[in-house]
Amino acid sequence: MGADAKTGRMEAAQVKAMFDRVAGAYDLLNTLMTAGLHHRWRERAADLAMVGPGSRVLDVAAGTGDLSIELALRVRPGGQVIGSDFSERMLDRARAKGAGVESLRFEWGDALELRYGDGSFDAATVGFGARNFSDLALGLSEMVRVVRSGGRVVVLDFTTPTRPPLSWFYSVWFDRIVPLIGHFSADPDAYTYLPQSVKRFPGPEGLAAEMERAGLREIRYVLTAGGIVTIHVGTVV
Ligand SMILES: C[S@@+](CC[C@H](N)C(=O)[O-])C[C@H]1O[C@@H](n2cnc3c(N)ncnc32)[C@H](O)[C@@H]1O
Repeated sequence: MGADAKTGRMEAAQVKAMFDRVAGAYDLLNTLMTAGLHHRWRERAADLAMVGPGSRVLDVAAGTGDLSIELALRVRPGGQVIGSDFSERMLDRARAKGAGVESLRFEWGDALELRYGDGSFDAATVGFGARNFSDLALGLSEMVRVVRSGGRVVVLDFTTPTRPPLSWFYSVWFDRIVPLIGHFSADPDAYTYLPQSVKRFPGPEGLAAEMERAGLREIRYVLTAGGIVTIHVGTVV
């Protein structure tokens, strides 16, 4: 059961199964593929969430938990971060890494059907997860629904740079090297899926428009790493 050969699309169940399979190697491959820069990107995403002591934050599609942990360290004392994901194996890794951080909890959850009440968080974040949602509009509107008025929604994800020479380098990196790195993982398909999912994902302006349609205002975005990664933030009205 792999991605559609032409479009690289996967059903939600396939995405979940894929992340269950790659969970063990995810952190190492992430560091290799981003040359370790992903920690810095997560810090910037957490900055844009504008949370502090006492805040309640939901990190959806939390995976192995790095962004959740970054946020949890900022909401102490008195705050709480819930990291939610539908891959049990990714959550196992997250729980092991986050053990001992009292402001952090990991829970199973589908980003397209969040189990939390309206306005129950000060912010919601998603790091490298929105690209995998089988319905981006629904995923965004669920994040908006669970955040209180005035709170923030932050989306951190890969984007395709448009200007040479970075666009050339990027295409070699994502189309050739990333799939090659994937050969060392338990699931080479996952690393063919990755570049395809990035190409399918809306560009920065397109994602900003999706966020506006989901009900966010004051939307802005920060391009980082020469446009390879974009962090969007919007405010719930
Ligand atoms: C590329 S990983 C990102 C993990 C983590 N946020 C990070 O920054 O490294 C994408 C994660 O999204 C999760 N995911 C994708 N679609 C989801 C959905 N509908 N509900 C919950 N989790 C989802 C996957 O299980 C996977 O753990």
